[in-house]
Amino acid sequence: MNIRDRIPRLPEIYADSNLNLLLRRAKENRTVDIEEYETTGGYSALKKALNRFRPEDIVALVEESTLRGRGGAGFPTGRKWRFALMNPQPRYLVCNADESEPGTFKDRIIIERDPHLLLEGMIISGYALQAKEGYIYIRGEYPAGYMILENAIQEAKERGYLGKNILGSGFSFDIKVYRGAGAYICGEETALLESLEGKRGHPRLRPPYPAQVGLYGRPTVVNNVETLSNIPIIVTYEAYFMNIGPAGFYGPKLFPISGKVNRPGVYEATMDITLQELIDMAGGMKDNKDVKAVFAGALGIYRKDELDTPMDYSPKGFGGTGTTIVLDEDDCIIDALTVITNFFHHESCGKCTPCRVGTYEQDVILKKLKEGKATEKDVEYLKHLSKNIPANSICGLGYSAPNAVADALEKFPEEFEAHLNKTCKRCFG
Ligand SMILES: Cc1cc2nc3c(=O)[nH]c(=O)nc-3n(C[C@H](O)[C@H](O)[C@H](O)COP(=O)(O)O)c2cc1C
Ligand code: SF4
Repeated sequence: MNIRDRIPRLPEIYADSNLNLLLRRAKENRTVDIEEYETTGGYSALKKALNRFRPEDIVALVEESTLRGRGGAGFPTGRKWRFALMNPQPRYLVCNADESEPGTFKDRIIIERDPHLLLEGMIISGYALQAKEGYIYIRGEYPAGYMILENAIQEAKERGYLGKNILGSGFSFDIKVYRGAGAYICGEETALLESLEGKRGHPRLRPPYPAQVGLYGRPTVVNNVETLSNIPIIVTYEAYFMNIGPAGFYGPKLFPISGKVNRPGVYEATMDITLQELIDMAGGMKDNKDVKAVFAGALGIYRKDELDTPMDYSPKGFGGTGTTIVLDEDDCIIDALTVITNFFHHESCGKCTPCRVGTYEQDVILKKLKEGKATEKDVEYLKHLSKNIPANSICGLGYSAPNAVADALEKFPEEFEAHLNKTCKRCFG
């Protein structure tokens, strides 16, 4: 049986865009095959890159584009590439498709619906970095995505876009797909590399950075799916890319939005959009209720009076992966927080004691609060944990595990009071 016939049915996820760049094809709920991809302009950026640009020209284009990594940290992609190029061959390119943060499902849309956009981005990036091999590390819970990528790689090889001497250019590049086993920590780039090498997914100490010592000890660029999918757009548009979006944060961005909005889904917009405008794009609030809070995935909370926050990577911007979970006036912040503290407790890899034990203690206190069994002392201890888990951890999971709790303590003290006094209507009737 052909691999295409074995691909499970895709979930119905709404997607919309008025830019039609990253979601140009992926707006529709089906997988675009190579023929449709080619007839809608696909692989023309690769041809242009190989025919008209030297590898260093592409690196310069990406630097000028100001493209920031879409995996969460917003690190400038061109700078990361330049750093890797300072280190000798062989180099690797790794695509991070682990996408495990609560509420995040933007990369999935590209992988499942427009896989050749990602492959084209990886091949051009491989050419720019003069890498011979690329890997896609995809979360185990995306079985359809895995099969779709395997099928797309086969299609690309048959047409000469992948493999030896691509389109007669002399450049050879191959891509392999590797499935994770369901650990959030394996999205952290150094844990991902350990896992890819067949080891337990524990983060490495940095420095050295992956661009210096990465996969199998070689210089490695790790980039997110959405970041790499921007590369064909940059090569196509060149300087015109700087007309898309606000200065310094050029290019399209995907925003997965869920919770109490009328049309949850993935939206493509420029980064000058505000949180309120994104909620409006998603059809506004369900049942015309008021916004109580917006969770930035598992990593922070915004209040109703902060809905003018721009969705960019500036110090006051929303940043991260752009993941937005909307709570309405009837939702309970403590209830929502218990999901998050439970997530971090479950996902801490256990390498550092403050993260392993601290995320457990956070979770225990949140459960006590929800059940009306917590004391003032517990809340004081939560504040202590919020400072001390990040200060004594070695990776981004530990740095950010208490962020949502710390935001809630600062921005919603009345919710803690309502659980100490058992007056929360939702939890205590
Ligand atoms: C706990 C943790 C989980 C992460 N998960 C992902 C992920 O699923 N996908 C991703 O692209 N980046 C993830 N990151 C960020 C990566 O470490 C890395 O910064 C990113 O892949 C770099 O790509 P970019 O520069 O294109 O954003 C995670 C980081 C941490 C600390
Ligand atoms: S901070 Fe937490 S997740 Fe990161 S290495 Fe330490 S224990 Fe593991």
